[in-house]
Amino acid sequence: MTQSNLIDFDTKTQSFHLHNDDISYVLGIEAGGVLAHLYYGQRIKQYHGHLKSPRLDRGFSGNLPKSSDRTYSLDAILREYSYEGDGDFRTPALVVRQADGSRSAFFKYQDYTISDGKPTLAGLPATYVVDEHEAQTLTVNLVDEVSQLTLAMRYTIYRQRPVITRSVQIINNGEQAVHLEKIASMMIDLPVGEKDVISLLGGHANERNINREPITFGTKTFQSRRGTTSHHMNNFIAIADTQTNEFKGEVVGLSFVYSGNHKEEVSKDPYGTYRIAVGINDDQFDWEVAAKDSFQAPEVIMTYSNTGLNGMSQALHNLLQQRMVRSKYKNSVRPIVVNNWEATFMDFDEARLQPIVDEAKDMGIEMFVLDDGWFGHRDDDNTSLGDWQVLAKKFPQGLQHFANYIHERDLQFGIWFEPEMISIDSDLYKNHPEYMLKVPNRTPSPSRNQFVLDIGRPEVRENIHSQMKAIFDNTDIDYVKWDMNRNLTDIYATDLPASRQGEVMHRYVLGLYQLLEELTTEYPDILWEGCSGGGGRIDAGFMYYMPQSWTSDNTDAVARMKIQYGTSLAYPISSFTSHVSEAPNQQTGRYTSLQTRGAVAMSSVFGYELDLTQMTDDEKQAVKEQVAQYKQMRQLVQYGQYSRLIDPNEGNRCAWMFVSDDKNEALVFSFNILSQAQPENKMLKLVDLDADKVYEDVATGDEFGGDELMHAGIYEPAVFSDFNAMIYHYKAK
Ligand code: GLA
Repeated sequence: MTQSNLIDFDTKTQSFHLHNDDISYVLGIEAGGVLAHLYYGQRIKQYHGHLKSPRLDRGFSGNLPKSSDRTYSLDAILREYSYEGDGDFRTPALVVRQADGSRSAFFKYQDYTISDGKPTLAGLPATYVVDEHEAQTLTVNLVDEVSQLTLAMRYTIYRQRPVITRSVQIINNGEQAVHLEKIASMMIDLPVGEKDVISLLGGHANERNINREPITFGTKTFQSRRGTTSHHMNNFIAIADTQTNEFKGEVVGLSFVYSGNHKEEVSKDPYGTYRIAVGINDDQFDWEVAAKDSFQAPEVIMTYSNTGLNGMSQALHNLLQQRMVRSKYKNSVRPIVVNNWEATFMDFDEARLQPIVDEAKDMGIEMFVLDDGWFGHRDDDNTSLGDWQVLAKKFPQGLQHFANYIHERDLQFGIWFEPEMISIDSDLYKNHPEYMLKVPNRTPSPSRNQFVLDIGRPEVRENIHSQMKAIFDNTDIDYVKWDMNRNLTDIYATDLPASRQGEVMHRYVLGLYQLLEELTTEYPDILWEGCSGGGGRIDAGFMYYMPQSWTSDNTDAVARMKIQYGTSLAYPISSFTSHVSEAPNQQTGRYTSLQTRGAVAMSSVFGYELDLTQMTDDEKQAVKEQVAQYKQMRQLVQYGQYSRLIDPNEGNRCAWMFVSDDKNEALVFSFNILSQAQPENKMLKLVDLDADKVYEDVATGDEFGGDELMHAGIYEPAVFSDFNAMIYHYKAK
């Protein structure tokens, strides 16, 4: 069946219109062959050519070369991309150091192509299509005549998603090498209006706090310079109208598909125009593009919603789940794990772990994950990273013996690795000190007393790859937790000349992606989980290789409410994991009930992280019940439509809910944080239900209309204990 076009070029207005049922994005070729931004938002039928930025003689904003039109300035129009040295004094998206040392460039429209589907980006993660009618891609080529550089700007629009992806590529058709000092993956200028920027900031054990602030005059930068996505600033931002809330209003989410240094710049100029740019951080970046060579920048996902932040998150959740994750587990319910980290740390051997496995079996838990401390001679975190051989003292009969013990009890076996790291106290360092990231003649900086391997180099990757392969080929392993417990310093690669040391951090990420690609394709049956000291590398790019990630080293139920609420802004529920740990909590010292810990952890991919053998009989029984309950609800939690209802940052409550595709089932999680004497009455209004259906509260048998639950709401019971959790389960009759 022929499908309608999603992208049109109108010769009269010289504009490209990307559209589907929900959204329109219009860009045009303006005087001088400049690519201008014209419109982005709710679907319009046709662009008639009138929405150009007003032409005015703006003092001190220069004009096109050889032009006497003082009303047309690259400094004042809305643009799709800007270049250092072209007369636009706002933040540039691209800075090219030309062979003559200048930083001037003028990229002029040359031609375009429109094709079905979506091309892959070599060596980089990106969203994909499964059917070429699902999306169309526009490539607009712009050329800098002097250097013969082509700038290929790529836009893909999905047919049934409010999503456009963007990326850019530089192709050097000239005779001399150039250096890219900055290359944003996307830039957009938006017209007047009052807007907020929402970012996800935090720190170790406190990731992805939602931070919302007005965009005011000047430039605000969100970034990571740590070599990874970072706990401190996730590479997702949203630009929202000031009135937009969870349920209504316009918002655009910008998700950078990359796992290294990133920068999101948001500015407002004196004429009220907003400029947004997202890409690899130009700090510590300088990439040589040789003659006849090219550079591909990573992708940015743009998600438009006029149904508030929940609408944006839902579109993004579905896209990432269905068109970023490639793992065979992308639509499978994930196993309930018990992980031994907070139970034993590194103080274990097989005999100490076996009883935990036995308890797990008895409780219905489905996987045992062996965390840090099983390799080299590792009893603490000062040694052995890089030596991925089993520590015989802890597993005298070998790792396969323990794998058998677990499998004989019908559990799966998972194992922890930290492949990108090296300890000075390791055989790998003794044999290959040159594998470590280190600046010659300088003493490298430790962090957690460990150092980073230069994973950008093929021989380093091959070494780690073959060590991991030896474990996978000799042990029945069902799951791997891929950890990374420090950030990058001492940036220097021994295999690159001085002029190219600015490439090291991006080469690290490309090398990492190559290693991940190889291992995840060679071992597709392994369920891979990402981790970086908790959630330091949760990003859309990592999801291309690993369908789930450890959300945070903070397992405290109350702290997790905020962390999980914030994480859900940009990442699907099936992509982040949550474990019940002991009380008082090891990170915060807070005591919360097993029921509340369970409810918070059951709100994503569920597991336990405590010594099951130390629990009382009552607690063991409660765990059995939680496990059984989660098995009933996990399809809906992991793959239903998720909505945030009450933001824990705003007060004493937190709530979210899940609805099945057919709207026949809903689960609502509601938390009352601190107890109050004579509390205010509390109501909860649900969303996304079928107004015409009648729902039964499974626990009480009470009946409600879908419209009642959504518009009238329910009263929540008054509770007189701290950190209380309620789970409501509704089924349509
Ligand atoms: C990181 C992880 C933890 C645990 C430890 C082991 O902090 O986030 O879950 O695996 O490393 O060292």
